[in-house]
Amino acid sequence: MLFVLCLVTIASLVGLSSQRPGVLDEISMLEATNSTLLRYPTDFTQNIVPKAIHSHNDYWRDVPLLTALSFGVASVEADVWLVGETLYVGHEMAALTTDRTFDSLYIQPLLSIIAGQNPKSQFTVNQSSINGVFDTSSTTPLQLLVDMKTDGPSTLPFVLSALQPLRERGYLTTCASNGTCTLGPLVVVGTGNTPLAGIQALSPRDVFFDAPLIALNSTFDITLSPIASTDYEVAVGWSGIGNINGTQLAAIQKYVADAHALGIRARFWDTPGWPIHARNNVWQTLIDNGADWLNADDLEAAATMF
Ligand SMILES: *[C@@H]1O[C@H](CO)[C@@H](O)[C@H](O)[C@H]1NC(C)=O
Ligand SMILES: *[C@@H]1O[C@H](CO)[C@@H](O)[C@H](O)[C@H]1NC(C)=O
Ligand SMILES: *[C@@H]1O[C@H](CO)[C@@H](O)[C@H](O)[C@H]1NC(C)=O
Ligand SMILES: *[C@@H]1O[C@H](CO)[C@@H](O)[C@H](O)[C@H]1NC(C)=O
Ligand SMILES: *[C@@H]1O[C@H](CO)[C@@H](O)[C@H](O)[C@H]1NC(C)=O
Repeated sequence: MLFVLCLVTIASLVGLSSQRPGVLDEISMLEATNSTLLRYPTDFTQNIVPKAIHSHNDYWRDVPLLTALSFGVASVEADVWLVGETLYVGHEMAALTTDRTFDSLYIQPLLSIIAGQNPKSQFTVNQSSINGVFDTSSTTPLQLLVDMKTDGPSTLPFVLSALQPLRERGYLTTCASNGTCTLGPLVVVGTGNTPLAGIQALSPRDVFFDAPLIALNSTFDITLSPIASTDYEVAVGWSGIGNINGTQLAAIQKYVADAHALGIRARFWDTPGWPIHARNNVWQTLIDNGADWLNADDLEAAATMF
């Protein structure tokens, strides 16, 4: 405010008052100054509104994690391979490099982003809650799906230990054995070869299990599975071209209802990617019928569905 007044005063002193700058001129002038008045600590995700989109194979993007966040995507997926004692990220063994690890692509960036959203200052001394990655919605967690590609029971302990720096700082959503859950900036969910028994045995639990959407039963609740997923092709199969038929529509509605009855969110993966209008028809039909996560490869396109 003071700064704006200053600019206006300088402008009038040098005789510009007869040609008073317009609001857009004044914005440009301020931006050119790089003034500290224009910055705030948690502006990393300024203006980005979170959306219920799951970034399928997130590590394939130009910049893993950050590209997804830039579109407001609230769920990302990393395929992890245990080789020796290290978790590498990639779609297949041939795609792995020594640099691209679960730690370097996900754990370290998340530590740094979440720390940045939680500056320690005179203004935050009394704050006990921890802000999530989205500045516009600090209580919205980011879901991290960890798709274990190597043997589940051997990989799980390494995933648990890789998460330790996030756990120590209280960044992980955790459920105590009495069923009381504490929401944190992250919800970590094991999928792929993740062993159900290994996740059930965690107490407290801060890695959850991606439940089978077409085979839900009373074993699953939100303290075990915040999400349930299925292959769309197998469960529904409508191509998105022509009208969806009664059987296909009923399948979507049944699986969504099964999940919601347990408080679990439903995701259909392997939805058609092309033609574009067919892809969008399927996405729209899933949204209209209560599917909670849109599984997407093209994040920019998915973001336009909300
Ligand atoms: C603007 O200020 C920030 C923080 O003080 C600094 O890191 C950055 O280099 C500055 N940018 C320019 C263009 O001066
Ligand atoms: C933090 O709490 C103390 C003790 O109640 C209080 O004096 C102080 O003003 C509070 N600070 C902020 C930034 O709310
Ligand atoms: C459940 O367990 C947690 C952690 O041990 C504890 O903080 C909480 O008070 C318990 N809640 C109930 C309802 O027993
Ligand atoms: C529920 O499904 C899980 C996973 O398929 C299975 O292990 C469990 O035995 C089933 N429980 C019941 C009660 O059917
Ligand atoms: C809907 O289409 C599927 C796949 O072509 C087919 O198996 C099913 O019988 C159809 N249902 C109705 C009611 O036409």
